[in-house]
Amino acid sequence: MQTFRTKLSQVESVLQNAGVYCGHGYESVADEAVALVLGAAGLLPEQPTSLLDQPFPEDADTQLANLLDRRCVQRLPVAYCLQEAYLAGLRFISDDRALVPRSPVSHAVAECLSPWWPEHKVPSLIVDVCCGGGSLGLVAAAAFPGATVLLSDLDQQALSLATENIILHDQSDRVSALRADLTSAIQSGCVDILLANPPYVSRAEIAQLPPEYRAEPRIALEADAEGTELAVSLLQEAVRVLAPDGLMLLEVGETWMALEDRLPRVPFLWLELPQGGSGVAAISAQELRDWDAAGIL
Ligand SMILES: C[S@@+](CC[C@H](N)C(=O)[O-])C[C@H]1O[C@@H](n2cnc3c(N)ncnc32)[C@H](O)[C@@H]1O
Repeated sequence: MQTFRTKLSQVESVLQNAGVYCGHGYESVADEAVALVLGAAGLLPEQPTSLLDQPFPEDADTQLANLLDRRCVQRLPVAYCLQEAYLAGLRFISDDRALVPRSPVSHAVAECLSPWWPEHKVPSLIVDVCCGGGSLGLVAAAAFPGATVLLSDLDQQALSLATENIILHDQSDRVSALRADLTSAIQSGCVDILLANPPYVSRAEIAQLPPEYRAEPRIALEADAEGTELAVSLLQEAVRVLAPDGLMLLEVGETWMALEDRLPRVPFLWLELPQGGSGVAAISAQELRDWDAAGIL
């Protein structure tokens, strides 16, 4: 008889031998094995350790074999295999219409952006620009129940997934999705919190990425030759759209060094996030206005 424990160990070996790359929300093949085994058995991620010695249901074997084929042969990220991803404790529908949710900004957002956003201040409008499947904006909607949230993206496929996630979270009354090029559809001076996670992988880097990334929409990853173009545009546009006391959270990952080279006089402060992750900056509207006035953006 196979138990969950023996199944987990087998799946971990299969993943190890296949040489899968873990970079889409799971840190190790052990974590991925747990997700795949529980997913095959139709169980939620949080289970008591006593499950380990329970029999693994035989009728879940076919589903597990299908999942392993998708993961090891087709090299799809676990989230696409299971059609779901968890971010900051929330569940999202995930498929190849949008990037797998994994932004390190999510944990800071779930904690109401403390200490960068004043405690107890209710933002009126939060915009998740370049929203993909909408996970960041929906984490923000949960953290700030009084806010209206706009999810925007250029890619209609991503927006269709974002719309499904809005419905999944039952947030249609205050979260909406809109197709737009960066902040072009947003009125001046009205955004309290701007969440910006644009594509920032340079053309040279994209060719080096493991196969799992090829399953994700190219528009979600690839930027210009340096990877900084959209980030610079967003910094400039944020000056216009942010409210006087607004806040921008910008994520550029490993491209932070290229961004510093591109804007050498901007004193970026890269955050130390509790859950890890690099290249995230919290920038106040006042700082942006100062940088814009000094002509350094
Ligand atoms: C790195 S993904 C981020 C997705 C999402 N924020 C997340 O954390 O999962 C970047 C997103 O930017 C979108 N995008 C690319 N160019 C854009 C543009 N010019 N205007 C708006 N969105 C754009 C892509 O379609 C993609 O969904």
